[in-house]
Amino acid sequence: MAATPGADTASWRALREPARAYCTSMAAMGARRIAGLIALVLCGATVEGVGIVLLVPLLLLVFGNGVPAGRLGALTRHLVAAVGPGSALSVLVLAFAGLVVLRAVILWRRDRGLIAFSTDLVDRWRGDLVTVLAGASWTRLRALDRGKVEFAITSDVGRLAQGGDRLLRGGMALVQLIVLGAFALSLAPALTLAVLALMALALPFARRLLHAAWRQGAVMTIRGGRRHNAFAEFMAGLKLAKAHEAQDRYAEEFIALSAEIRHSGLAYADMQMRNAQAYQAITALAAALLLLAGIGWLHMAPAVLSALLVLLARLPGPAVNLAQGAQSLVQMLPAVAELIALRQLLIEVQPVPDAPGAVPSPSNLPAALQLSAVRYRHGPHQADVLRGIDLTIGSGEMIALLGPSGGGKTTLGDILIGLIAPDQGMITVDGVPIADADARARWRRQIGYVPQDPFLFDRSLRENLLWAAPQADEAALWDALDQAEAAAFVRALPDGLETRAGDRGSRLSGGERQRLCLARALLRRPRLLVLDEATNALDRVVEQRMLQTLVRLRSRTTLILITHRLPVDLPVDAAYRLSDGHMTEHRA
Ligand SMILES: Nc1ncnc2c1ncn2[C@@H]1O[C@H](COP(=O)(O)OP(=O)(O)OP(=O)(O)O)[C@@H](O)[C@H]1O
Ligand SMILES: [Mg+2]
Repeated sequence: MAATPGADTASWRALREPARAYCTSMAAMGARRIAGLIALVLCGATVEGVGIVLLVPLLLLVFGNGVPAGRLGALTRHLVAAVGPGSALSVLVLAFAGLVVLRAVILWRRDRGLIAFSTDLVDRWRGDLVTVLAGASWTRLRALDRGKVEFAITSDVGRLAQGGDRLLRGGMALVQLIVLGAFALSLAPALTLAVLALMALALPFARRLLHAAWRQGAVMTIRGGRRHNAFAEFMAGLKLAKAHEAQDRYAEEFIALSAEIRHSGLAYADMQMRNAQAYQAITALAAALLLLAGIGWLHMAPAVLSALLVLLARLPGPAVNLAQGAQSLVQMLPAVAELIALRQLLIEVQPVPDAPGAVPSPSNLPAALQLSAVRYRHGPHQADVLRGIDLTIGSGEMIALLGPSGGGKTTLGDILIGLIAPDQGMITVDGVPIADADARARWRRQIGYVPQDPFLFDRSLRENLLWAAPQADEAALWDALDQAEAAAFVRALPDGLETRAGDRGSRLSGGERQRLCLARALLRRPRLLVLDEATNALDRVVEQRMLQTLVRLRSRTTLILITHRLPVDLPVDAAYRLSDGHMTEHRA
């Protein structure tokens, strides 16, 4: 996976690409939705501003200390002339209360809209990533660092939600600042400009803080990912670690990484708090200066000065929100960069095949396969595992594949079932070349496969079986279990088919797992069945019985048996030995 730009290499340019991707994903949520949210934010701020400005005539009427010149003075005079001084006060108080209620409704709609927006946005990122994962080729998937993917889909995407929410609130704060600032300017232009100039002095600090936010974000992505990996490995290897009394090593690594993350987080929070406190102090100072200037030099009417103070007192809140929004955006960008890198790793440009789309039509007959001059290597810098394999397998044949460990048997099996594509050469099914990813995907729907490392989900045995063939009925389930020599032990379980398999099937023995995996594969009624060392955990008697059953299934499926020991009396049609990338006929 491409590395996230590290904390040390943080540069503003590195922010551009993830920031753009994030904004694009926001824009993709729909212009109408965004416009609606902006309208709500604007309405909220305007209603707030109007309410505060209304304080001026209200205070004038309450304290009766002279009506100043200007529009607000004129408004007050008109109102008093129209309804009399007593009623004017009631009208103003009611108008003020009405505005408060209106603002509450607007803010409720606004906040609800914002939360829905940021959760939808994150769901899109997550959904997109899972879709890309599901669609990626096995070659790409097996190269993935599983822990990193898990971390990306849980933690990194989660940070997008948090960051998105803060960012939207930051944007909202900016609008609020502009609207409230405009109201303040209309009340006292010179004083407001002076206050804004004071606030601008904080900008260089903001830049430093943003840099620190980016560094902290990178630490959370990189170190957090490592810590997650350490834990995932710990859980996966728990039995082994316990058996070797090595669990403390894992715990130490986990604790050390946690400490690094904690130190970095604390340093960042410290910086944030220092800045926030400094900002509060400066704001209080500015308010004091304002008061002195307003009363001493500008001789402002106390009512106007009070409203102005209320207005300006509202500014630090949005200003802090704006700063936090910017920090949150920058802090989550390393997570965005990581998600983009992961996506790029999974998406591959599919070559356009010369003869598109040909796939053997689904039939109930066992498949006939042919490999010609198949070459394969696992990576660009690795040696060929398969060096020109030619193989013909007739419909309904039973073939054994033997050879030393590392000889390429599993790799060849993966090619036969269409999981990976040969680098050179061709595979045909029923005479039709399986030439592109789409054809391989459709071919895979017709096969059954029991991997070397039998896997069960931590769900009921029934769910494990139905996973491969959701439509199968009870009779089909027991039929498959019978053929896989699993019916007897499943029946003997207290909960039968409802028994949970445990993590990766840990509540069952190795041989029981293998038999259930075989039953699952058989349930698909495959045209090709590949068993990769699928009987090596069974005792001889059970293995013999199972293989004899499989021999009888040859009218339904072609069978490839990858094994290290071929039972002598098994009537295979052919046996091959794969060694050093070459295939030869095997003689007992
Ligand atoms: N994902 C991979 N990346 C790189 N190399 C791989 C990968 N999978 C397998 N190999 C290498 O390819 C070679 C063939 O592996 P393969 O699993 O096909 O052997 P095998 O015959 O099935 O062995 P075994 O009998 O031990 O199961 C081995 O040298 C192995 O190290
Ligand atoms: Mg193998």
